[in-house]
Amino acid sequence: MALDLPILLGTVRNERRSIWVARYVESLLSKRPDVTTRLWDAADLPFGNLVRREWEMTERPDVVDQFVHAMDQADGFVIVTPEYNYGIPGTLKNLIDHLFDEWNRKPFGFITDGAAMGGTRAQDQLRQVIAGIRAISIPTSIPVQWIEKTWDQTGPKTERNDWNSRFDRFFLELEWYARALQRERQDSARSPGPA
Ligand SMILES: Cc1cc2nc3c(=O)[nH]c(=O)nc-3n(C[C@H](O)[C@H](O)[C@H](O)COP(=O)(O)O)c2cc1C
Repeated sequence: MALDLPILLGTVRNERRSIWVARYVESLLSKRPDVTTRLWDAADLPFGNLVRREWEMTERPDVVDQFVHAMDQADGFVIVTPEYNYGIPGTLKNLIDHLFDEWNRKPFGFITDGAAMGGTRAQDQLRQVIAGIRAISIPTSIPVQWIEKTWDQTGPKTERNDWNSRFDRFFLELEWYARALQRERQDSARSPGPA
């Protein structure tokens, strides 16, 4: 079965470096057999601070309809985000909060960037948030340490083969969960909610 695995970029900061990672990930993921992907950039989505969730919006821009539809059709997600002050950017939290059913029972993989820790504290936060939307965080994640020194707009500056094989293992695991959950969602898509 084909898998649709969109990438979500979680920052809108001017001169953000995370877009280097997001584009690199998109280039690798789009070459994998039986996988389609697309990079969804928070900067292109009119969400901002949460006022109304997507299903509460009376007038929705076309891009919101397109985004919601794409998330609904997706089998899993890659989040690419920096760590800001030991957490995830508010932009990313708002983006996630605008939807709910579309995330349910689907796997999320995290690729984060930051300084010494490569965004691992943002990953820990994401694991909590993803549980809140009744979805699954895959065990494997990728931290990108010292992005400003080790990457540029073309990708990793050194050890590209090593990076690519780490990404391959990450994709393999995301695909495994996406395939398993896709099969089960065909019977019952929605989570019963918290116990
Ligand atoms: C507001 C802000 C807060 C930051 N806080 C952290 C942090 O808590 N941990 C960390 O490792 N790096 C932190 N950094 C460094 C960023 O993770 C790093 O500069 C990264 O490139 C930022 O991603 P961006 O360029 O896509 O915005 C911070 C950067 C900014 C702008």
